Amino acid sequence: MPAILIAPSILSADFARLGEEVRAVVAAGADMIHFDVMDNHYVPNLSVGPLVCEAIRPVVDVPIDVHLMVRPVDRIVPEFAKAGANIISFHPEASEHVDRTIGLIRDSGCKPGLVFNPATPLSYLDHTLHLVDLVLIMSVNPGFGGQKFIPHALEKIREVRQRIDANAQKTGRKVMLEVDGGVKADNIGAIAAAGADTFVAGSAIFGADDYAATITAMRKAVADATRA
Ligand code: DX5
Ligand code: ZN
Repeated sequence: MPAILIAPSILSADFARLGEEVRAVVAAGADMIHFDVMDNHYVPNLSVGPLVCEAIRPVVDVPIDVHLMVRPVDRIVPEFAKAGANIISFHPEASEHVDRTIGLIRDSGCKPGLVFNPATPLSYLDHTLHLVDLVLIMSVNPGFGGQKFIPHALEKIREVRQRIDANAQKTGRKVMLEVDGGVKADNIGAIAAAGADTFVAGSAIFGADDYAATITAMRKAVADATRA
């Protein structure tokens, strides 16, 4: 079975019982917690900030994967690092100086990631791939959970996979390729076959009665779709 990571998005969790919810998905086999930060400015929704990250940090021992959908980006980065984030990803359009923001995340002790909206060109990777630990391809427009997967994302994932592999051949550096939006047990196989190795799923996991069965079904679908 390929080494894939499943990252449930807390956006679809029951916020009245958030501690229990993150503990439950980790017990069900989640590899990371995906933490969606929305500011009602860069995206038309408002979610949670560093206080909530800090609150769930002691509850689980898996990495916290912070997805910043905020503008400006830089001011909030050290606060999330202090709150226990492990990965911090941001949208390049939301930062005035992409290289500086990547450096800031790294200097704060976290792994930097770059996020691509459905219409954001991959050219942002031309001068940044050697600096990041993660590339996140959005398969919905950011702002809401429960949206439908945009199939064109598969082409983008294939292209990023080629870039990451070419870069790895030259430098030996491993970069995670994550996909976010509308990921479910019935399409995760095709997404993995396109080259993604890290999968965000909000409504598909937190909307299910049995978290473990859902995560197991996702892993099985990936194994079936990527078997040589
Ligand atoms: C969308 C968020 C996603 C979202 C995923 O802006 O970045 O992480 O919560 O939710 P689902 O899996 O329901 O599409
Ligand atoms: Zn997200």
